[in-house]
Amino acid sequence: MKLAIAADHGGWELKTELLKFIGKIANVEVADYGTSGPDSVDYPDFGKKVAEAVSSGAVDRGILICGTGIGMSITANRFPKIRAALCHDHFTAQMSRLHNDANILVMGERVIGRGVACEIVKTWLETEFEGGRHLGRLEKIEAIGQRTR
Ligand code: RB5
Repeated sequence: MKLAIAADHGGWELKTELLKFIGKIANVEVADYGTSGPDSVDYPDFGKKVAEAVSSGAVDRGILICGTGIGMSITANRFPKIRAALCHDHFTAQMSRLHNDANILVMGERVIGRGVACEIVKTWLETEFEGGRHLGRLEKIEAIGQRTR
């Protein structure tokens, strides 16, 4: 699986930890889209890079981190075909894949600890979409996006 990851200054430390963690997971190739230090940046600039990569099919999935995860979620969900899910624990990570086929995982470094974040990533990467009745619901979301853009 090809994965893109990015963060703003509120999330870059957690991103650094997650890059080490993801590097040990088999069959996942991760590309780091920045930022790489504590200097203040604007989260839309980094959310956009990952959302565009997922939306275009350049990568399979993405991970975005900011202080709360809220700004990155709002940004990513503006892009076609993006289903970005802000997850805080194992349950939300699992459900975001089973029911929502989330293709971008968003987390808040100021909200969750590193251990929980690693557990979320592992669950999110390993859980497959259930399909079935959930597929029609995702098609309805995409249709809403196409009508209003
Ligand atoms: C940056 O201070 C902070 O606003 C950002 O990381 C994020 O939490 C926005 O939603």
